[in-house]
Amino acid sequence: MRIAIVGATGQLGSELLSLWGDRAVGLSRDQLDLTRPEGLEEVLESSRAELVVNAAAYNHVDRAEAESLAALEVNSQGPRQLARACARRGVKLVHVSSDFVFGTDTSRQVPYLETDPTGPLGAYGVSKLGGELFVRSGCPGHLVVRTCGLYGHAARQRDGGGNFVETMLRLADSGRPIRVVDDQRCTPTSTTVLAAAIDRLVQADCVGLYHATCTGSATWYEFARAIFGLSGREVDVEPITAAEFGAAAQRPGYSVLDCSRLTSDTGYQPPDWNTALAAYLLTRDECPNTDQPGD
Ligand SMILES: NC(=O)c1ccc[n+]([C@@H]2O[C@H](COP(=O)([O-])OP(=O)(O)OC[C@H]3O[C@@H](n4cnc5c(N)ncnc54)[C@H](OP(=O)(O)O)[C@@H]3O)[C@@H](O)[C@H]2O)c1
Repeated sequence: MRIAIVGATGQLGSELLSLWGDRAVGLSRDQLDLTRPEGLEEVLESSRAELVVNAAAYNHVDRAEAESLAALEVNSQGPRQLARACARRGVKLVHVSSDFVFGTDTSRQVPYLETDPTGPLGAYGVSKLGGELFVRSGCPGHLVVRTCGLYGHAARQRDGGGNFVETMLRLADSGRPIRVVDDQRCTPTSTTVLAAAIDRLVQADCVGLYHATCTGSATWYEFARAIFGLSGREVDVEPITAAEFGAAAQRPGYSVLDCSRLTSDTGYQPPDWNTALAAYLLTRDECPNTDQPGD
């Protein structure tokens, strides 16, 4: 099956491209810009794709509060056009969404099922929820996969070296004091695990909404401690509250996703988040690094 990956330069897009090799064609933003739907049909036609994966997104959670239209354009309107184009072509669309579609249930302490009511807290979450709804209603052959706390090697080759693991390692090496939020709990997930889950869902010809993360859960503080421990760094890290951190966007206090539907429909059992993190850190040196230390 020939697969087109939209957002192929991102963390997940790059991972899928290397997993699927010759079967996949990667589309960068230059080749397919979700905010410019006019060229969409032509690009899909020339890719000869039988399956399209949308790994592209506007992922600036805090900035989205001031730029909600930009977030909606990429995360809601773009997937809407993509879903319509895929439906017209009779092509299946895999679309990736986020745990940030949850959050308004502030007393939540058990993992969310796909059937649980959503309730995003911020503009980013609203834009991701919009994308899900447009894909689910616009393309009969859809697969919407929600994930959480994503990190992948490609982040190191992009401006800012942007994922939580790389940010923590950079901060540790800078010797600056580190304060990390300890009252938001989710499941850190590597792109390796998410790509394997998507591959299994595609192979099993699954349709509908699925949760796909590693297993277990951690606060950002616990995740940071594990990053420092597994990478052999001795770092003083102070737990703080989200209120003390003062980010522009409100985030869910608890957004662990229940992935039992993924396992029962595909047989894929994701590893726990500590194991996936250790694998990421072990393979990190094999990947080129264009980070500017101290950025
Ligand atoms: N990162 C997380 O912690 C996290 C958590 C939960 C869910 N997710 C979801 O997981 C999916 C993959 O995330 P990721 O971390 O791999 O993303 P990422 O590394 O930030 O990559 C995003 C990709 O989208 C592309 N893009 C941005 N605007 C675009 C546009 N207008 N048209 C076409 N492409 C555009 C980017 O291109 P450029 O390289 O040109 O900017 C980049 O290739 C996304 O749906 C995201 O919302 C992520």
